[in-house]
Amino acid sequence: MKKTVLTGIKPTGHIHLGNYIGAIKPALELAQVESYKPMYFIADAHALTNKHDVHELKQLTRGMMAAWLALGLDPEKAIVYKQSDIPEIFELAWILSTLTPKGLMNRAHAYKAIVDENERGNKEKDTNVNMGLYNYPVLMAADILLFQTDVVPVGNDQLQHIEIARDLADRFNHSYGKTFTLPTHSIQETAILPGLDGRKMSKSYKNTIPLFEEPKSLQKLINQIKTDSSPPEAPKDPEQSIVFTLYKQFASAKAIEQMHEAYQSGISWGDAKKELFSVINQVLEQPRETHKELLAAPEKIDRIVAEGAEKARALSAPFLQEVKERMGM
Ligand code: ADP
Ligand code: TRP
Repeated sequence: MKKTVLTGIKPTGHIHLGNYIGAIKPALELAQVESYKPMYFIADAHALTNKHDVHELKQLTRGMMAAWLALGLDPEKAIVYKQSDIPEIFELAWILSTLTPKGLMNRAHAYKAIVDENERGNKEKDTNVNMGLYNYPVLMAADILLFQTDVVPVGNDQLQHIEIARDLADRFNHSYGKTFTLPTHSIQETAILPGLDGRKMSKSYKNTIPLFEEPKSLQKLINQIKTDSSPPEAPKDPEQSIVFTLYKQFASAKAIEQMHEAYQSGISWGDAKKELFSVINQVLEQPRETHKELLAAPEKIDRIVAEGAEKARALSAPFLQEVKERMGM
Protein backbone atom coordinates (compact mmCIF):
# COMPACT_ATOMS: atom_id res chain seq x y z
CA MET A 1 0.00 0.00 0.00
CA LYS A 2 1.32 3.42 -0.95
CA LYS A 3 1.57 6.07 1.73
CA THR A 4 -0.49 9.20 1.27
CA VAL A 5 1.53 12.39 1.30
CA LEU A 6 -0.65 15.50 1.35
CA THR A 7 0.02 19.18 1.46
CA GLY A 8 -2.01 22.36 1.14
CA ILE A 9 -0.88 25.73 -0.11
CA LYS A 10 -2.67 28.96 0.57
CA PRO A 11 -3.31 31.03 -2.55
CA THR A 12 -1.07 34.06 -2.36
CA GLY A 13 -0.08 36.37 -5.13
CA HIS A 14 3.57 36.93 -4.52
CA ILE A 15 5.37 33.65 -5.09
CA HIS A 16 9.08 34.30 -4.80
CA LEU A 17 12.33 32.36 -5.10
CA GLY A 18 12.27 31.65 -1.35
CA ASN A 19 8.86 29.95 -1.59
CA TYR A 20 10.12 27.92 -4.52
CA ILE A 21 13.33 26.71 -2.87
CA GLY A 22 11.87 26.32 0.63
CA ALA A 23 8.45 24.85 -0.09
CA ILE A 24 7.48 24.17 -3.69
CA LYS A 25 10.59 22.36 -4.91
CA PRO A 26 10.90 19.94 -1.96
CA ALA A 27 7.17 19.16 -2.10
CA LEU A 28 7.44 18.39 -5.81
CA GLU A 29 10.39 16.13 -5.14
CA LEU A 30 8.29 14.13 -2.68
CA ALA A 31 5.69 13.62 -5.42
CA GLN A 32 8.38 11.76 -7.36
CA VAL A 33 8.86 9.14 -4.66
CA GLU A 34 7.41 5.86 -5.99
CA SER A 35 6.09 4.66 -2.64
CA TYR A 36 3.95 7.78 -2.11
CA LYS A 37 0.50 8.67 -3.29
CA PRO A 38 0.70 12.48 -3.51
CA MET A 39 -2.18 14.90 -2.94
CA TYR A 40 -1.79 18.67 -3.39
CA PHE A 41 -4.50 21.21 -2.85
CA ILE A 42 -5.02 24.95 -2.79
CA ALA A 43 -6.33 25.94 0.64
CA ASP A 44 -8.72 28.63 -0.63
CA ALA A 45 -11.10 28.30 2.33
CA HIS A 46 -8.23 28.92 4.73
CA ALA A 47 -7.55 32.14 2.83
CA LEU A 48 -11.02 33.44 3.85
CA THR A 49 -9.81 33.98 7.41
CA ASN A 50 -8.10 37.14 6.13
CA LYS A 51 -9.93 39.99 4.45
CA HIS A 52 -10.06 39.26 0.76
CA ASP A 53 -11.21 40.54 -2.56
CA VAL A 54 -13.70 38.22 -4.31
CA HIS A 55 -12.22 38.54 -7.77
CA GLU A 56 -8.69 38.40 -6.46
CA LEU A 57 -9.24 35.12 -4.58
CA LYS A 58 -10.32 33.44 -7.78
CA GLN A 59 -7.32 34.78 -9.67
CA LEU A 60 -4.87 33.87 -6.93
CA THR A 61 -6.22 30.34 -6.71
CA ARG A 62 -5.81 29.87 -10.46
CA GLY A 63 -2.41 31.55 -10.39
CA MET A 64 -1.16 29.26 -7.65
CA MET A 65 -2.45 26.18 -9.42
CA ALA A 66 -0.83 27.36 -12.67
CA ALA A 67 2.45 27.87 -10.80
CA TRP A 68 2.49 24.33 -9.42
CA LEU A 69 1.58 22.82 -12.76
CA ALA A 70 4.20 24.93 -14.54
CA LEU A 71 6.85 23.83 -12.07
CA GLY A 72 6.18 20.18 -12.80
CA LEU A 73 3.25 18.96 -10.71
CA ASP A 74 1.74 16.19 -12.83
CA PRO A 75 -2.04 15.82 -12.39
CA GLU A 76 -1.81 12.30 -13.77
CA LYS A 77 0.45 11.26 -10.90
CA ALA A 78 -0.86 13.44 -8.08
CA ILE A 79 -4.41 14.30 -7.09
CA VAL A 80 -4.60 18.09 -7.35
CA TYR A 81 -7.70 19.96 -6.23
CA LYS A 82 -8.96 22.98 -4.42
CA GLN A 83 -10.20 22.72 -0.86
CA SER A 84 -13.54 24.43 -1.44
CA ASP A 85 -14.54 21.76 -3.99
CA ILE A 86 -14.55 19.08 -1.31
CA PRO A 87 -17.61 19.58 0.94
CA GLU A 88 -16.60 16.58 3.09
CA ILE A 89 -13.70 18.62 4.48
CA PHE A 90 -16.11 21.12 6.03
CA GLU A 91 -18.40 18.44 7.40
CA LEU A 92 -15.46 16.72 8.98
CA ALA A 93 -14.21 20.05 10.38
CA TRP A 94 -17.50 20.40 12.29
CA ILE A 95 -17.26 16.84 13.57
CA LEU A 96 -13.69 17.41 14.74
CA SER A 97 -14.59 20.70 16.37
CA THR A 98 -16.93 18.82 18.69
CA LEU A 99 -13.89 16.89 19.93
CA THR A 100 -11.61 19.92 20.18
CA PRO A 101 -11.03 21.39 23.64
CA LYS A 102 -11.31 25.16 23.42
CA GLY A 103 -8.11 25.46 25.44
CA LEU A 104 -6.19 23.70 22.68
CA MET A 105 -7.20 26.44 20.25
CA ASN A 106 -6.31 29.13 22.79
CA ARG A 107 -2.77 27.79 22.68
CA ALA A 108 -2.44 27.66 18.87
CA HIS A 109 0.54 29.79 17.80
CA ALA A 110 -1.14 31.89 15.13
CA TYR A 111 -4.04 32.83 17.39
CA LYS A 112 -1.75 33.47 20.35
CA ALA A 113 0.45 35.76 18.28
CA ILE A 114 -2.55 38.00 17.51
CA VAL A 115 -3.69 38.00 21.14
CA ASP A 116 -0.18 38.97 22.26
CA GLU A 117 -0.07 41.78 19.76
CA ASN A 118 -3.49 43.05 20.83
CA GLU A 119 -2.46 42.99 24.47
CA ARG A 120 0.75 44.87 23.74
CA GLY A 121 -1.32 47.48 21.93
CA ASN A 122 -3.73 47.72 24.89
CA LYS A 123 -6.57 46.39 22.77
CA GLU A 124 -9.21 43.83 23.73
CA LYS A 125 -7.46 40.48 23.32
CA ASP A 126 -9.70 39.10 20.55
CA THR A 127 -9.73 42.22 18.40
CA ASN A 128 -9.63 41.21 14.70
CA VAL A 129 -10.01 37.52 15.49
CA ASN A 130 -12.80 35.79 13.58
CA MET A 131 -13.93 32.25 14.29
CA GLY A 132 -12.39 31.06 11.02
CA LEU A 133 -9.00 32.15 12.24
CA TYR A 134 -9.61 30.65 15.65
CA ASN A 135 -10.71 27.33 14.13
CA TYR A 136 -7.98 27.33 11.48
CA PRO A 137 -6.21 24.30 12.99
CA VAL A 138 -9.44 22.26 13.04
CA LEU A 139 -10.06 22.88 9.34
CA MET A 140 -6.47 21.94 8.64
CA ALA A 141 -6.88 18.74 10.67
CA ALA A 142 -9.93 17.92 8.52
CA ASP A 143 -7.88 18.50 5.33
CA ILE A 144 -5.36 16.00 6.56
CA LEU A 145 -7.47 13.34 8.30
CA LEU A 146 -10.15 13.07 5.62
CA PHE A 147 -7.65 11.44 3.25
CA GLN A 148 -6.01 9.10 5.76
CA THR A 149 -2.78 11.03 5.28
CA ASP A 150 0.44 9.41 6.44
CA VAL A 151 2.90 12.22 5.79
CA VAL A 152 2.49 15.99 5.63
CA PRO A 153 5.46 17.91 4.25
CA VAL A 154 5.47 21.32 5.92
CA GLY A 155 7.70 24.09 7.12
CA ASN A 156 8.55 24.49 10.78
CA ASP A 157 5.80 27.02 11.34
CA GLN A 158 3.14 24.37 10.62
CA LEU A 159 4.39 21.72 13.05
CA GLN A 160 1.91 22.55 15.76
CA HIS A 161 -0.95 22.14 13.29
CA ILE A 162 0.16 18.59 12.52
CA GLU A 163 0.35 17.85 16.25
CA ILE A 164 -3.21 19.12 16.64
CA ALA A 165 -4.39 16.92 13.76
CA ARG A 166 -2.78 13.89 15.42
CA ASP A 167 -4.33 14.78 18.73
CA LEU A 168 -7.82 15.08 17.22
CA ALA A 169 -7.44 11.81 15.29
CA ASP A 170 -6.42 10.13 18.50
CA ARG A 171 -9.39 11.55 20.42
CA PHE A 172 -11.78 10.38 17.71
CA ASN A 173 -10.27 6.88 17.57
CA HIS A 174 -10.52 6.69 21.32
CA SER A 175 -14.20 7.58 21.39
CA TYR A 176 -15.45 5.77 18.29
CA GLY A 177 -12.90 3.07 17.50
CA LYS A 178 -9.89 3.20 15.23
CA THR A 179 -10.91 5.27 12.24
CA PHE A 180 -8.27 7.82 11.38
CA THR A 181 -4.62 7.37 10.45
CA LEU A 182 -2.36 9.41 12.72
CA PRO A 183 -0.42 11.73 10.40
CA THR A 184 3.27 12.46 10.77
CA HIS A 185 5.10 15.49 9.47
CA SER A 186 8.08 15.58 7.22
CA ILE A 187 10.01 18.70 8.00
CA GLN A 188 11.76 20.14 5.06
CA GLU A 189 15.29 20.96 6.07
CA THR A 190 15.70 23.45 3.30
CA ALA A 191 17.89 26.47 3.05
CA ILE A 192 16.45 29.81 4.07
CA LEU A 193 16.94 31.92 1.01
CA PRO A 194 18.11 35.48 1.64
CA GLY A 195 16.41 38.39 -0.11
CA LEU A 196 17.89 41.40 -1.86
CA ASP A 197 18.95 42.98 1.44
CA GLY A 198 20.31 39.79 3.04
CA ARG A 199 17.40 39.22 5.43
CA LYS A 200 15.20 36.17 4.84
CA MET A 201 13.45 36.61 1.51
CA SER A 202 9.88 37.42 2.48
CA LYS A 203 6.96 39.34 1.08
CA SER A 204 6.71 41.17 4.40
CA TYR A 205 10.24 42.57 3.96
CA LYS A 206 9.67 43.62 0.35
CA ASN A 207 13.04 42.11 -0.55
CA THR A 208 11.82 39.36 -2.85
CA ILE A 209 12.61 38.20 -6.35
CA PRO A 210 9.30 37.01 -7.84
CA LEU A 211 9.44 33.50 -9.23
CA PHE A 212 8.11 34.28 -12.69
CA GLU A 213 9.80 37.65 -13.22
CA GLU A 214 10.51 38.47 -16.87
CA PRO A 215 14.23 38.36 -17.82
CA LYS A 216 14.77 42.13 -17.99
CA SER A 217 13.34 42.90 -14.57
CA LEU A 218 14.89 39.73 -13.16
CA GLN A 219 18.30 41.06 -14.15
CA LYS A 220 17.42 44.47 -12.70
CA LEU A 221 16.42 42.92 -9.36
CA ILE A 222 19.56 40.78 -9.23
CA ASN A 223 21.61 43.94 -9.80
CA GLN A 224 20.03 45.35 -6.63
CA ILE A 225 21.32 42.53 -4.41
CA LYS A 226 23.41 43.98 -1.62
CA THR A 227 27.19 43.44 -1.95
CA ASP A 228 30.22 44.94 -0.22
CA SER A 229 32.40 47.56 -1.84
CA SER A 230 35.43 45.39 -2.55
CA PRO A 231 37.06 46.10 -5.95
CA PRO A 232 36.48 43.69 -8.86
CA GLU A 233 39.79 41.85 -8.64
CA ALA A 234 39.71 41.37 -4.83
CA PRO A 235 39.19 37.79 -3.56
CA LYS A 236 35.73 37.40 -2.03
CA ASP A 237 34.36 35.04 0.56
CA PRO A 238 31.58 33.11 -1.22
CA GLU A 239 30.02 32.00 2.06
CA GLN A 240 29.43 35.63 3.05
CA SER A 241 27.84 36.57 -0.24
CA ILE A 242 24.09 36.78 -0.88
CA VAL A 243 24.77 36.39 -4.60
CA PHE A 244 26.62 33.11 -4.04
CA THR A 245 24.01 31.80 -1.58
CA LEU A 246 21.36 32.23 -4.25
CA TYR A 247 23.65 30.81 -6.95
CA LYS A 248 24.11 27.61 -4.96
CA GLN A 249 20.39 26.87 -5.05
CA PHE A 250 20.12 26.99 -8.83
CA ALA A 251 23.45 25.94 -10.35
CA SER A 252 24.85 22.45 -10.94
CA ALA A 253 27.40 21.00 -8.51
CA LYS A 254 30.18 21.58 -11.00
CA ALA A 255 29.18 25.19 -11.69
CA ILE A 256 29.00 25.85 -7.95
CA GLU A 257 32.52 24.55 -7.48
CA GLN A 258 33.83 26.70 -10.31
CA MET A 259 32.06 29.77 -9.00
CA HIS A 260 33.48 29.11 -5.55
CA GLU A 261 36.96 29.22 -7.03
CA ALA A 262 36.17 32.31 -9.08
CA TYR A 263 35.16 34.15 -5.88
CA GLN A 264 38.40 33.21 -4.18
CA SER A 265 40.56 34.30 -7.07
CA GLY A 266 38.53 37.49 -7.57
CA ILE A 267 35.38 38.05 -9.65
CA SER A 268 33.62 41.37 -10.01
CA TRP A 269 30.16 41.66 -8.45
CA GLY A 270 28.86 42.62 -11.88
CA ASP A 271 30.08 39.34 -13.38
CA ALA A 272 28.91 37.27 -10.40
CA LYS A 273 25.45 38.78 -10.80
CA LYS A 274 25.42 38.07 -14.53
CA GLU A 275 26.18 34.43 -13.79
CA LEU A 276 23.47 34.32 -11.16
CA PHE A 277 20.95 35.74 -13.60
CA SER A 278 21.97 33.18 -16.16
CA VAL A 279 21.43 30.12 -13.93
CA ILE A 280 18.17 31.35 -12.43
CA ASN A 281 16.85 32.27 -15.84
CA GLN A 282 17.80 28.90 -17.25
CA VAL A 283 15.95 27.03 -14.52
CA LEU A 284 12.84 29.21 -14.67
CA GLU A 285 12.54 30.06 -18.36
CA GLN A 286 10.36 27.10 -19.30
CA PRO A 287 8.11 27.20 -16.19
CA ARG A 288 7.64 30.95 -16.79
CA GLU A 289 6.39 30.32 -20.32
CA THR A 290 4.15 27.44 -19.24
CA HIS A 291 2.74 29.57 -16.42
CA LYS A 292 1.90 32.33 -18.88
CA GLU A 293 0.25 29.88 -21.27
CA LEU A 294 -1.85 28.37 -18.51
CA LEU A 295 -2.99 31.76 -17.25
CA ALA A 296 -4.04 32.62 -20.78
CA ALA A 297 -6.20 29.46 -20.83
CA PRO A 298 -7.94 29.47 -17.44
CA GLU A 299 -10.47 26.89 -18.67
CA LYS A 300 -7.60 24.41 -18.88
CA ILE A 301 -6.67 25.06 -15.24
CA ASP A 302 -10.32 24.83 -14.22
CA ARG A 303 -10.66 21.48 -15.97
CA ILE A 304 -7.64 20.02 -14.19
CA VAL A 305 -8.98 21.27 -10.87
CA ALA A 306 -12.44 19.83 -11.56
CA GLU A 307 -10.96 16.44 -12.45
CA GLY A 308 -8.88 16.53 -9.30
CA ALA A 309 -11.97 17.24 -7.20
CA GLU A 310 -13.69 14.24 -8.72
CA LYS A 311 -10.79 11.97 -7.83
CA ALA A 312 -10.54 13.38 -4.33
CA ARG A 313 -14.26 13.05 -3.67
CA ALA A 314 -14.25 9.44 -4.80
CA LEU A 315 -12.10 8.92 -1.69
CA SER A 316 -13.60 11.43 0.71
CA ALA A 317 -17.34 10.79 0.25
CA PRO A 318 -17.40 7.08 1.19
CA PHE A 319 -14.93 7.63 4.01
CA LEU A 320 -16.91 10.45 5.55
CA GLN A 321 -20.02 8.27 5.36
CA GLU A 322 -18.18 5.66 7.39
CA VAL A 323 -17.12 8.29 9.93
CA LYS A 324 -20.70 9.49 10.34
CA GLU A 325 -22.03 6.00 10.79
CA ARG A 326 -19.51 5.34 13.50
CA MET A 327 -20.84 8.39 15.31
CA GLY A 328 -24.44 7.26 15.06
CA MET A 329 -25.48 9.77 12.40
P1 ADP B 1 6.57 34.98 3.11
O1 ADP B 1 7.63 34.96 4.18
O2 ADP B 1 7.04 35.62 1.86
O3 ADP B 1 5.26 35.55 3.61
P2 ADP B 1 5.18 32.49 3.33
O4 ADP B 1 5.16 32.61 4.80
O5 ADP B 1 3.91 32.67 2.56
O6 ADP B 1 6.30 33.46 2.74
O7 ADP B 1 5.84 31.08 2.98
C1 ADP B 1 5.28 30.07 2.18
C2 ADP B 1 6.24 28.90 2.20
O8 ADP B 1 7.51 29.28 1.64
C3 ADP B 1 6.55 28.38 3.61
O9 ADP B 1 6.61 26.97 3.56
C4 ADP B 1 7.92 28.93 3.93
O10 ADP B 1 8.65 28.08 4.77
C5 ADP B 1 8.58 29.03 2.55
N1 ADP B 1 9.50 30.19 2.52
C6 ADP B 1 9.15 31.48 2.57
N2 ADP B 1 10.23 32.30 2.51
C7 ADP B 1 11.31 31.49 2.42
C8 ADP B 1 12.73 31.71 2.31
N3 ADP B 1 13.23 32.95 2.28
N4 ADP B 1 13.54 30.65 2.23
C9 ADP B 1 13.03 29.38 2.25
N5 ADP B 1 11.71 29.10 2.34
C10 ADP B 1 10.84 30.13 2.41
N1 TRP C 1 -1.71 26.09 6.96
C1 TRP C 1 -0.87 25.82 5.81
C2 TRP C 1 0.03 27.06 5.55
O1 TRP C 1 -0.32 28.15 5.94
C3 TRP C 1 -1.70 25.50 4.59
C4 TRP C 1 -2.51 24.26 4.78
C5 TRP C 1 -3.87 24.19 4.92
C6 TRP C 1 -2.02 22.93 4.87
N2 TRP C 1 -4.26 22.91 5.07
C7 TRP C 1 -3.16 22.10 5.06
C8 TRP C 1 -0.74 22.37 4.80
C9 TRP C 1 -3.04 20.71 5.20
C10 TRP C 1 -0.62 20.98 4.94
C11 TRP C 1 -1.75 20.16 5.13
O2 TRP C 1 1.05 26.92 4.91
